[in-house]
Amino acid sequence: MNQDVKNIVVTAEQLAARISELGTQITADYSGKKLVVLGILKGAAPFTTDLMRAIDLDFEMDFLAASSYGSGTQTSGEVRMLKDTALDLAGKDILVVEDIFESGYTLDKILEVLRGRGAASVRLCVLLEKPGTHAVDIPIDYLGFHIPNEFIVGYGLDYAEHYRGLPYIGVLKPEVYQK
Ligand code: IMP
Ligand code: MG
Repeated sequence: MNQDVKNIVVTAEQLAARISELGTQITADYSGKKLVVLGILKGAAPFTTDLMRAIDLDFEMDFLAASSYGSGTQTSGEVRMLKDTALDLAGKDILVVEDIFESGYTLDKILEVLRGRGAASVRLCVLLEKPGTHAVDIPIDYLGFHIPNEFIVGYGLDYAEHYRGLPYIGVLKPEVYQK
């Protein structure tokens, strides 16, 4: 285990098993539809690429990037679109894939933009959800895991751009971001 990680909350094996289940569910739900998978950079990159391989359908995919102002362990509430998709979304069934739902500000902005492009549907697949943190009420159509309200890293999630490559999700030791 990485020396800066206090404890593991989701193991690599648990991630693989749950992503396989989500893929099976999405495959059934989107059969016969024009699925477009849109992963949110950078945090959802590992989840998106693993989930893609668990979906047994023909689909289009791309990545979007949005940024909350500020850095560190708090999200501020203002969001900028940094990278958009050039795919034509009109009439398509869009599945937005995100790493973690905390306040929901980032996703709210992204969904608003996508809904304005004539998609047949826009749904949300989120790997992790922290309890009691929602500031924006958005339904999560597919959820991987509920996790405790602690600052976590790994499997795409970072602290100051580090730890994204960890194959599991773990709680960062508080002394790492307090120093
Ligand atoms: P929201 O806009 O408040 O929902 O924030 C969501 C974004 O904040 C995620 O996409 C992550 O990039 C980041 N984030 C929220 N909680 C954590 C965490 O515990 N560790 C690392 N990044 C986090
Ligand atoms: Mg993010």
